[in-house]
Amino acid sequence: MAVEEHKRERDPRTGHMMTGHEWNGIKELNTPVPRVVWIFLILTFLFGLGYWIMMPAWPIGTTYTKGLLDTNQHKIVTAKVQRAATDRARWTDQIAARDIGAVRADPALMAFVREDGHRLFGDNCAACHGINATGGQGRGFPNLTDGDWLWGGSPDEIAHTIAVGVNSPASPETRVSQMLAFGRDGLLDNDTVIAVATYVQSLSDPASAKGKAAAITKGREAFAANCAVCHGPQGHGNQQLGVPNLTDGTWLYGGDFDSIYTSIYEGRHGEMPAWEHRLTPVERRILTLYLLDKGGRS
Ligand code: HEC
Ligand code: HEC
Repeated sequence: MAVEEHKRERDPRTGHMMTGHEWNGIKELNTPVPRVVWIFLILTFLFGLGYWIMMPAWPIGTTYTKGLLDTNQHKIVTAKVQRAATDRARWTDQIAARDIGAVRADPALMAFVREDGHRLFGDNCAACHGINATGGQGRGFPNLTDGDWLWGGSPDEIAHTIAVGVNSPASPETRVSQMLAFGRDGLLDNDTVIAVATYVQSLSDPASAKGKAAAITKGREAFAANCAVCHGPQGHGNQQLGVPNLTDGTWLYGGDFDSIYTSIYEGRHGEMPAWEHRLTPVERRILTLYLLDKGGRS
């Protein structure tokens, strides 16, 4: 009975009907949904409908409704990748076709080399040679920016080192370098290794020879007999064999007495991977240009 009465009741203040619900004297108005909400709902519904029609939407078995606009993210990405490749090819084609000197003289090409070379170097070489190509001090990874080359610093020599590597099992044509283990393999007794290490240290650090005249003399003789064949009579090294210069103060494995002693006693066997199967010829050319540009001129 009470509900029936309320239902017919109109709120005198707002003019709205009542729902007929009542809680402890609080009555509920039957206000309509505001127009703005209706409009919003209708617009979103229409938008949804339009979107289904225009864009890819519903799965049907093995395919789907393609939509009138024929938008396909796959196609868009493929086109973008293709455009980027064409952009890149504009540069790489020129780098592959022109000679090294001409590329180096072209500022636009070199700007590309610096950017792309930095990326290639970071992805493939930096783990060993360091992000700035300055090498790992004392760990056998040479500095590639100091103009001091084990294997020669001409564009052809650098490109060849990158292609075939050094002592790399991955390339049959790899460069081969071997510093013998004179102490461990018993080629020299320990006293002689100490003497020759003392002599070698004195080549770049004359002050270290002070008070060691006997060892220096013994070391010099042992050097002439055992080492000069590779390192040269004056210790200047040999780029044909990747043999380092021992007189210039630049060290692969460290120039303190202990490091030099270890090099002679244990031998060294630096290994640089071959990149001929992992990088394209033009990528290797970009890296060669990148290193030449870094200041690694011979
Ligand atoms: C796994 C470590 C390693 C990686 C990676 C590596 N290198 Fe080397 N690289 C070496 C070592 C070790 C040597 C020294 C070899 C030797 O003792 O003769 C070397 C030597 C070189 C040389 C000769 C230096 C000279 O003085 O003649 C060049 C050039 C070179 N690397 C370039 C590169 C480039 C470019 C990359 C990347 C594509 C690269 N390396 C990646 C370890 C590495
Ligand atoms: C068969 C050739 C050969 C002979 C002989 C040889 N060396 Fe070497 N030596 C090398 C090569 C190659 C390297 C570089 C090794 C590497 O890159 O891993 C080297 C590296 C070294 C190094 C390390 C240089 C550095 O930059 O850290 C020292 C020190 C050295 N040799 C001293 C000697 C002494 C002393 C003798 C004689 C007792 C000798 N070598 C005999 C080939 C030779």
